[in-house]
Amino acid sequence: MGTSPLSLSASLLSADWLHLESDLRKMEASGVDWHHIDVMDGHFVPNLSFGLPLIQQIKKISTLPLDVHLMVSNPDAVFSAYLDAGADLLTFHIEAAVHPHRLIQQIRARGAKAGIALNPGTDVRLLSPLLGELDLVLLMTVNPGFGGQSFLPFCLSKLRDLVSLQTQYGHRIPYVSVDGGIDAVTAPQVRNAGANVVVAGSYLYGAADRAAAVSLLRNT
Ligand code: DX5
Ligand code: ZN
Repeated sequence: MGTSPLSLSASLLSADWLHLESDLRKMEASGVDWHHIDVMDGHFVPNLSFGLPLIQQIKKISTLPLDVHLMVSNPDAVFSAYLDAGADLLTFHIEAAVHPHRLIQQIRARGAKAGIALNPGTDVRLLSPLLGELDLVLLMTVNPGFGGQSFLPFCLSKLRDLVSLQTQYGHRIPYVSVDGGIDAVTAPQVRNAGANVVVAGSYLYGAADRAAAVSLLRNT
C-alpha cells in the first residue's frame, strides 16, 4: 500500500465508441480524475484513432479535464488546434517535437498544462533542460499505438531515473504519469518507482466493476 493515492486517467481508446457518452458518464461515475485521449496520426504511430471533431464534442459533455496525448509527428504545427478543441493537459512526444521548449511555453501561455511523453526506448535525461517548466511527464510503458499491450518492466528503472533527475536538478514535476499495460499488478510497481498518475485503458474500461477497479488502482 502506498502513502498517497494515485490519480487516474481513463483512456478513451478502450471505451465503447458506439455508446460513447454513456460509457464516459459511467467512467466519470466510477471516480477517475481525467479522461485520457489518445490522438494517433498513422505516421508517428502505425494506427489512427480520432481527432479534433470528437474531442470538441467530448469537451461539451465531460465533467472531467481532458488529458490529451498527441501521438503525432508534427505537434509543433497542430498543438494549437487541440487546445482550441478543449485539451486541459496537452502532452506531445519529445521524439516528434522540433522545438520542445518553445512548445511547452506556447501550451502554457494558452492556460493549459504542458506534458512531454517519452517512448520506452527514449532516455529520460533528455528532459533535463526542460524539468523546471513541465507540468507533466508521460512515461510510456508500452510502445505507443495500441491499447491492451503488456507492460514493459524495464521502464521501472526509467521512472527511478526520473526521480533522481528531479532531485539532481532541484525541480519537482507535478505529474509523473505512466501509460501502457497498467493494471492491479503493475500500478503498485509504478507507484513505488515514483509515478503519481496512471493512465489505464483496457483495465478500467474492461472491468466488470469499474468502481472497484478504480478504488484498487487509486489506493494501490
Ligand atoms: C497507447 C496509448 C495508451 C493506451 C493504454 O499508445 O497511449 O493510452 O490507451 O491502454 P492500456 O491501458 O490498455 O495499455
Ligand atoms: Zn496514451
